[in-house]
Amino acid sequence: MTQRPLRIAPSILAADFARLGDEVKAIESGGADWVHIDVMDGHFVPNISFAFPVMTSLRPHTKLPFDVHLMISPADPYLPQFAAAGADLITVHAEAGAHLDRSLQAIKGLGKKVGVALNPATPVSVLSHVIDRLDLILIMTVNPGFGGQSFIRATLEKITQAKALVGGRDIDIEVDGGITTETAPLAVRAGANVLVAGSAIFKGNHAKEIKALRDACAVSA
Ligand code: DX5
Ligand code: ZN
Repeated sequence: MTQRPLRIAPSILAADFARLGDEVKAIESGGADWVHIDVMDGHFVPNISFAFPVMTSLRPHTKLPFDVHLMISPADPYLPQFAAAGADLITVHAEAGAHLDRSLQAIKGLGKKVGVALNPATPVSVLSHVIDRLDLILIMTVNPGFGGQSFIRATLEKITQAKALVGGRDIDIEVDGGITTETAPLAVRAGANVLVAGSAIFKGNHAKEIKALRDACAVSA
């Protein structure tokens, strides 16, 4: 099986919003691969974050791809606006609507990469019949809604199952929530290749923390 490159996607949910442009420049020069953008609606998840105006303002400040994680329900009516605001990859939750296949076709139709996120309690099997539409599977390693939560170890088995489902397809496996130098290697060993990290990166020197995550995964590979 081909080894996919390890990608680090800092979640700007943990950034200093008053200095967001500088924060994103700091992760870019610090070696980040993607910018992870957490959109919350106070309905699908018990928290509200930010959406299009922030993305549009941020877009000229970085060349990094925007990895947009939609924790909103419904998602479909807003997909064109996320595409227009600079999303490169749009991830919807499997639990967020009754018509996942339709949402995935809509994202593809906008010319964007397609992702599906699964909450910790949702089985990987919900992806069986949409797998060929996907560019990314996001295995949530916490219950979405807040940064700074503890990694749920029972999700490791789901990463392994997702990896098996992907087989030889060109699909990334991303993990999100409680990713640190301790938990990242566990997720990578189970099959993940994209690491979202908020507090672990923004709490300190961004470049140093990004390198620490990479190093932790390299030594345990
Ligand atoms: C949680 C978000 C995450 C969050 C991760 O709902 O999807 O992206 O920002 O934060 P940490 O890395 O602090 O767990
Ligand atoms: Zn996220």
